[in-house]
Amino acid sequence: MTAALEQALSRTFPNPSHELVQVVRGRRSGLVITVAIHSTALGPAAGGCRIAHYADPSAPIADALRLSAAMTEKNALAGLEHGGAKAVVALPAAARPTGEERTALLHDLGDTIESLGGRYIAGPDVGSGPADMSVIGSRTTHVCCRPAEEGGSGDSSLHTARGTLAALGAVADEAFGSPELAGRTFGVIGLGSVGAHVARLLDRAGARLVVTDVNPATRGLAQELGATWVHPDDALTADVDILVPAALGGLLTARTVPLLRCAAVAGPANNQLDEPSTADLLAARNILWAPDPVVSSGGVIHATGVEVRRESEERLSERIQGIADTLRQVFHLARTRATTPATAASRLAERRVREGHPSPTRTAAPAPTS
Ligand SMILES: NC(=O)c1ccc[n+]([C@@H]2O[C@H](COP(=O)([O-])OP(=O)(O)OC[C@H]3O[C@@H](n4cnc5c(N)ncnc54)[C@H](O)[C@@H]3O)[C@@H](O)[C@H]2O)c1
Repeated sequence: MTAALEQALSRTFPNPSHELVQVVRGRRSGLVITVAIHSTALGPAAGGCRIAHYADPSAPIADALRLSAAMTEKNALAGLEHGGAKAVVALPAAARPTGEERTALLHDLGDTIESLGGRYIAGPDVGSGPADMSVIGSRTTHVCCRPAEEGGSGDSSLHTARGTLAALGAVADEAFGSPELAGRTFGVIGLGSVGAHVARLLDRAGARLVVTDVNPATRGLAQELGATWVHPDDALTADVDILVPAALGGLLTARTVPLLRCAAVAGPANNQLDEPSTADLLAARNILWAPDPVVSSGGVIHATGVEVRRESEERLSERIQGIADTLRQVFHLARTRATTPATAASRLAERRVREGHPSPTRTAAPAPTS
């Protein structure tokens, strides 16, 4: 075990619960690749490949440990027969490799994934996309989200957005007593791949929109939808019914929570709470928070459904709509146990992993990937 691995383990998880942590140097690229498999209790572990620069050598390992544990929770809450894992490739500089260099690192990643014999199914994450999954797929079958024209499930952002819409219905019901979205005001922060779909779907549902993005090019979408545009600095304090974070994580902090002027926060952005105790600050202000592992799970439900379970679009739509039922269960647990939705979601995930089945509606065992 390297010193960096020991340091990351003791910092991130004083009592590590991971099934496997592998740190290798790519034969072709020379880059350090970490794969962390947190759990395979529910089935092969699924999770993305992050390709990023880290200043601290122990940080990529710590990230893999943290993100793989989060994937166990997300997949269990999504009702999937998958555990959680993550791969992290640490780049020496912020510039992303292209051409032959990129191919070399993706082949190294593919070989590392293949060596795990199917315990880990990889997908895209920060720094990687469907085209990269195709290159990884030349070295291993244990990869999903390849481009649709190659028989893969392709870009998952629309399905993540569909899941977010289902979630917003459950949130409106809990906060206002009706799942109706028409006439409610939503503040969408980030009009990227997922946020733009969410804004369009909300518009189609008759909602009123307040939107923002740091990229001024997205103002065109705001105009097209007749949405109110606000500066990114003013988005958190917008007077809306539900705030929908669809940009970066870490938005909800001890500094920002007191500024909020909404009844609820629910969006697809990953890791919205800067730390677990921020959930208590939201509860103290009577602001309903929908845990992002539940809200954002439409993409992983769809990708694994198409490429691993070979499910029909009809079945996948049912599963994505089921995100609303899971959230209702989380809110019910939080209410009846006098705890936060964040704690209720963690407990629900732990129970599903412990009991060895993802949800009451267990489906057929996963088919092998092609
Ligand atoms: N793509 C998916 O299927 C998927 C699945 C699960 C979770 N997520 C999460 O959803 C979020 C959005 O993902 P995406 O794929 O749409 O990413 P993206 O990069 O396409 O979009 C992010 C958008 O946020 C904007 N942005 C960045 N910082 C901002 C700020 N401070 N204020 C306002 N806007 C800001 C960017 O300009 C960009 O338009 C991420 O947190 C991602 O991890 C995405």
